[in-house]
Amino acid sequence: MKVLVIGSGAREHALCHSMSLDPDITALHCAPGNAGIAEVAELHAVDALDGSAVSALAAELGVDLVVVGPEAPLVAGVADAVREGGIPVFGPSQEAAQLEGSKAFAKDVMAAAGVPTARSYVCTTPEEAVEALGAFGPPYVVKDDGLAAGKGVVVTADLEAAKAHAAACERVVIEEFLDGPEVSLFAITDGETVVPLQPAQDFKRALDGDEGPNTGGMGAYSPLPWADPKLVDEVMETVLQPTVDEMRRRGIPFSGLLYAGLAITSRGVRVIEFNARFGDPETQVVLARLRTPLAGVLLAAATSNLADLEPLRWSDEAAVTVVVASHNYPGTPRTGDPITGLDEVAAQDAPHAYVLHAGTKRDGDAVVSAGGRVLSVTATGKDLAEARDRAYRAVGRIRLDGSQHRTDIAAKAAEGAEAAQA
Ligand code: AMP
Ligand code: GLY
Repeated sequence: MKVLVIGSGAREHALCHSMSLDPDITALHCAPGNAGIAEVAELHAVDALDGSAVSALAAELGVDLVVVGPEAPLVAGVADAVREGGIPVFGPSQEAAQLEGSKAFAKDVMAAAGVPTARSYVCTTPEEAVEALGAFGPPYVVKDDGLAAGKGVVVTADLEAAKAHAAACERVVIEEFLDGPEVSLFAITDGETVVPLQPAQDFKRALDGDEGPNTGGMGAYSPLPWADPKLVDEVMETVLQPTVDEMRRRGIPFSGLLYAGLAITSRGVRVIEFNARFGDPETQVVLARLRTPLAGVLLAAATSNLADLEPLRWSDEAAVTVVVASHNYPGTPRTGDPITGLDEVAAQDAPHAYVLHAGTKRDGDAVVSAGGRVLSVTATGKDLAEARDRAYRAVGRIRLDGSQHRTDIAAKAAEGAEAAQA
C-alpha cells in the first residue's frame, strides 16, 4: 500500500513512524513534513491547505490512501478535494469537520444526540456574554467559537479577564465549569461503525503542576491506571456512537478520527470538546501501544469497511511522551536554534524511546527548530514509571538553547491511582 500523509507535526511523524514499521506499506509520502519525517517518508513541498494541490499530488504518486492529520486542512475541505479525485482519504469532509471547527455546531449536535456536555450559551454581543457569565458564576469558561489551535479557551476566576476574552472574539461559547480529570478518547469511524482506541491523558498547561498558559499539549500518557475499566464502553455508548449517528442523520456523515475530550466529573462523564483528527501529543502514546498495523485500519475507515475489521490488538506496555518546546512557547517562539543529541537518543535509547519531530527543519547538516512545539520524545515501558524514566532520560540528551519541557508528565499516574485523579 502507498500512503500520503498531510501535515508536519509530531502527530504526523507518529503516523509515519507507525506506518514505516508496517510491512504492507510499499511507499510512504508526506507533505509538507519536517526533518524527522524526512527520515521515514519522501517529502513533497505542497501546501497542506491547498486541496487541489494535495489531490493532484496524490494522483501523481498513485497512492492508495491519503491521511489528513491537522484540523486546518480538514476545515479547509482538503479531504473533499482528494475524495472527489477518487482516492480514499482518512479524514472528515469540510462540513463534518465543523464538529471541531465550530464549538456552537458541536454543542448543537450534542444536544440533538443527547450527549452529556457542559451547559452553555452562544453569545455574539458583550451584553449577552456578561449575562451568561453571571448565570454560571466563577470559574468562568469562555471559548472562541472558531479554530484557535488550542489557545482560544480562557478558564478564569477573574470576571474582567473573562469579559475581555469574550469581547475579543466575534462569537463565543460561555459554559459551565467542569471539574475532574480530563481524558482524551479517540475513535476511528467510517460514518457508521465506530472503533474506539485506548484512552490517553494530555497536559495542556505550559508549566509543571498545571500552571501557566494553555498550549497545544506538553505531554501525554496511556493507559490510565486510575480510570474505570468500563470508561471506553460508557463513552462509546453515550458519546461516540450517538454523535456519529446524529451526523449521519443530518446527511453529513463523519468519517475519520473522532476525538472526544472528556471531563470525568463527580456527576459523570461530560464532553469538553470534539476534535475531527488525531490529538497531538496523545497520538504519540496511543499509536506506541497499537499492535494492529495502522494503515489497514485507516483504509478500512476511508472505504466504509470498518464493520469487517478484526478487533484491534494492543500492547500491555505503557507509553509516555514529553514535548520539548521552544523558548517563549506558547507565545511567539524563537526559531532557528540548532538541536543536538538526536543521534545519541537513536543510538542509546531506541527502540524503547524515540524522537518524533514537530517544528524542525534541516539547515545543511544541522537540524534546527522551526516552531513552538519542536519535538516530542515518546517511550514505552512495562509500566508508566519505566516509560517515564526512559522518556526523560532521552529528553536529557537533547540540547536546544532556551528550550522548555514539563518535568511532571505522567508523574502522578505513575505513583498511583488516587494521586492522578486529584
Ligand atoms: P478546549 O479547546 O475546548 O479543549 O479547551 C481547552 C482546555 O480548557 C480543556 O482541555 C480544559 O482544560 C479547559 N476547559 C474547556 N472547557 C472547560 C469546562 N467547561 N470546564 C473546565 N475546563 C474547561
Ligand atoms: N492534545 C490536544 C489536541 O490535539 O488538541
